[in-house]
Amino acid sequence: VKTLTQQQVRHFYNWFGSWHDRQPYENRAFDVLVARGDFSRAQAVFEFGCGTGRFAERLLRDCLPPDARYIGIDISDTMVRLATRRLRPWADRAIVRTGNIWDEPDGQFDRVISTYVLDLLSDNDARRTVAEAHRVLTTGGYLCVASLTFGQRPCSRISTTVWRLAYAIQPVIVGGCRPVHLLDFVPTEEWRVVHHETVVEWTLASEVLVASRDSRPVRHSAINVAITLP
Ligand SMILES: C[S@@+](CC[C@H](N)C(=O)[O-])C[C@H]1O[C@@H](n2cnc3c(N)ncnc32)[C@H](O)[C@@H]1O
Repeated sequence: VKTLTQQQVRHFYNWFGSWHDRQPYENRAFDVLVARGDFSRAQAVFEFGCGTGRFAERLLRDCLPPDARYIGIDISDTMVRLATRRLRPWADRAIVRTGNIWDEPDGQFDRVISTYVLDLLSDNDARRTVAEAHRVLTTGGYLCVASLTFGQRPCSRISTTVWRLAYAIQPVIVGGCRPVHLLDFVPTEEWRVVHHETVVEWTLASEVLVASRDSRPVRHSAINVAITLP
């Protein structure tokens, strides 16, 4: 699949800026993440591709404990500026900057969020980003992701087809995003799925996944021992 280069992404989102808040299809996915992400117990949140900071504002205002820290990064300077302005009431504990997840130290966060970003990366970059999320999360920490996905019912299937057609003509028409299956990027050997759901808003289907950074290899060996002992 041909995806936008980082330079094209930066250019597009610098231009798109606050228009992004008019996207009609994100609210239900955000509702599911809020309901399933157990944010009232989070202490350190990292967001990859925070955009205008809309979801972060909701978390800081309604969900996170008053002493929880938030770091959001974005590739677009315009988005960083908009999100910084929006999160000013929490400036003592919320930072937004350009940068990359590779620069973050290991095991620093108990939540890594990324909404509608994995679906604009190449498959390899999406997998690498999820691997980095695994590295920066504490054991038991949650990966909370949402993306466009494939509609299953007649109306949402038509929307998916139209969206994919637009993407095939020129990815930038749809902001570089395409329908994906999140589990293609989140290997269940390393993650325990806590919640997985597809929601539809304005006929557009979104996939929402909350997965816990588990120490699965330990579980596997425990199962093996149980099987070999008798
Ligand atoms: C479709 S928007 C989603 C914004 C926000 N997460 C939301 O759900 O409203 C994608 C965002 O990801 C950012 N982005 C794309 N690739 C990125 C990368 N490699 N590193 C950081 N941010 C990136 C874009 O600049 C843009 O703000």
